[in-house]
Amino acid sequence: MTDWLDRRSTPLLLGLFAGLLAVAAGLLVGGDDTARAGLAARWTARTALPLFLVAFLAGTLARRWPGGTTRALLRRRRQWGLGFALAHTIHLAALSINVLVYAPGRTWQSLIGGGLAYAMLYLMALTSTDGWQRRLGKWWPRLHRFGLYYLWFVFTVSYAGRAFGDDPGKRVVGLIFGTILIAALALRLWPRRRQAVVAITG
Ligand code: HEM
Repeated sequence: MTDWLDRRSTPLLLGLFAGLLAVAAGLLVGGDDTARAGLAARWTARTALPLFLVAFLAGTLARRWPGGTTRALLRRRRQWGLGFALAHTIHLAALSINVLVYAPGRTWQSLIGGGLAYAMLYLMALTSTDGWQRRLGKWWPRLHRFGLYYLWFVFTVSYAGRAFGDDPGKRVVGLIFGTILIAALALRLWPRRRQAVVAITG
């Protein structure tokens, strides 16, 4: 298992598989073209989330639960980020079909938050090499940290909108995934606060 997780190709293959599986499921389950396109957009976002969470939490997991598996996740954190970028590119394809063909009429203002998230995502993917890390120096961790938190924010706002929306089915989904995202943030921030307390008291 650890060997498999430690392969550079594993996150990319999982990202590709997760996105294509979500599209295939949407196409099979949807009753008509509009429903199929909607489900493909919804499910591609949902299957990309686990890959995002691995990239978001790899450092935290390795610090809190050091071991072969968590170290492998940390070593391949960039690839998990790229796997998420691949899966979310499939969301971009699915949502573009929605926005352009089946549910047009969105204002440009409504596209800003998600559009900026995609700009961040591709900036992070393009600068994920050692060369760019050296070139950007102290700006590299800043860019990648900010990008991760911004993507977390867009995911959380999307699910919060569903959790407090009118559709009961979407409300359950919003509550479950919103809770997972809040728990992930708490897990990521908690050791820092603890370290800060140790630093202050110790
Ligand atoms: C301008 C860019 C974007 C547009 C136009 C867009 C559009 C869509 C559409 C049409 C759906 C399906 C809605 C439904 O049928 O309920 C959807 C779902 C979703 N999108 Fe996007 N999206 C964008 C970017 C993003 C980004 C960057 C993220 C995350 C970082 C994201 C996260 C989500 C989530 C969490 C869902 C709901 C998935 C679920 O129901 O489990 N979207 N989006």
